[in-house]
Amino acid sequence: MNNRQMIFSALGFFTLAFSDFTISANAHGLPMGPNPSAETRLIETAPGTASWMKAEEIEKISASRHLSGHCGGYMDITDFQDFQTMRSRSSGPVLDLFADRAPWRHTLIEPLLEELSPAELQQSVRHLSSYFDRFYQSETGVQAARWIHDQFSKLSAHRADIKVELFGHNFKQPSVIATIEGTHPTLKNEYVILGGHLDSINQYSWGNQAKAPGADDNASGTATVMEIFRVLVQSGYRPERTLQFMGYAGEEKGLLGSQDIARKYRQEGKKVAAVMQFDMTLYAGKTGKLTFITDYVDPSLTRFSQKLMDTYVKTPWTTDTCGYACSDHASWNKAGYASAFPFEAPSNEMNPKIHTTGDTLLNSLDTEFGLLFAKLGLAFAVESSAERGNSVHF
Ligand code: BES
Ligand code: ZN
Repeated sequence: MNNRQMIFSALGFFTLAFSDFTISANAHGLPMGPNPSAETRLIETAPGTASWMKAEEIEKISASRHLSGHCGGYMDITDFQDFQTMRSRSSGPVLDLFADRAPWRHTLIEPLLEELSPAELQQSVRHLSSYFDRFYQSETGVQAARWIHDQFSKLSAHRADIKVELFGHNFKQPSVIATIEGTHPTLKNEYVILGGHLDSINQYSWGNQAKAPGADDNASGTATVMEIFRVLVQSGYRPERTLQFMGYAGEEKGLLGSQDIARKYRQEGKKVAAVMQFDMTLYAGKTGKLTFITDYVDPSLTRFSQKLMDTYVKTPWTTDTCGYACSDHASWNKAGYASAFPFEAPSNEMNPKIHTTGDTLLNSLDTEFGLLFAKLGLAFAVESSAERGNSVHF
């Protein structure tokens, strides 16, 4: 055994000999340890299944799945190998908060729903999709994040209980987090999070620079989060739990920003009561129904979100799966927290233009349909951030 192998063994890992290099594996057989080459990344395509891949192989995973009308997710865990061990729910929070919960804040929520504006939503999508791209390593990707930060700041400048931050990563683009501090003496330590990824990508540029307007994917979800924040702040709403609004960086390269944030929350022992993900909200598929993703989410929170649809949004919905790690809800799920993911359509009806220069507002994007997500998200924010007898148990 050489020194490195001895160190890994001492940490409880065992080693596997490969043809041209030696890698280590954890108890699940997942290859771990230093990157065997500067050109490869450690890509997890199912829980506990990962391998070192080159850029061309990684691109193929989602590009070929998208062309055949499916999502095709993965997590890039190169810099998150310690995060793997947090997967087990048994050692994490026990979240029975939503199991039998019924909506009850009608008088507060109903007037707020009227304040949500399709024009505001569209304006944010128009601005965000006007950058050349919002790529995780590009200057315009950084500018887009700063713009979101500035919008949150302007809206909340008069409120001492609201803070807006950039969350830096080990790549150029930061994530953005706006926090409305909870008012309840103990529940303020529990978090309710609404988020969507702020980055965009052109997957078909084959090494050249190409525009990535990402109007549906995912200016739409980002604008939804911003619109809910606008209405809640302007109404003077004060949550009992702490409410956070997030724009995640680097989702399109393997959920990089959300893994970084979810890992930190878990490491710090933060109590996260509920997370809702908004990723693609403006393209109504053939069936025209909002679609709840049912895999790698929390079933109780998803059921509760469906009740919120029936109570406040009152439009039909359906369900579908999207596979492992198709969006940032999977990072929270991996950290043991409850997340839900309302999506624009069943995956075989999804927007065919995502990740191309054609993902613009002109491509059949329907702001009235998009408003359904803002209504659901606002109801979720208010209902989940209010005390209801129970609390998160850890
Ligand atoms: N917005 C998509 C997720 C998506 C696409 C969900 C289609 C459902 C249907 C997201 O930004 C994305 O493209 N995800 C990639 C995976 C990511 C880790 C690169 C995907 O699904 O291929
Ligand atoms: Zn995408």
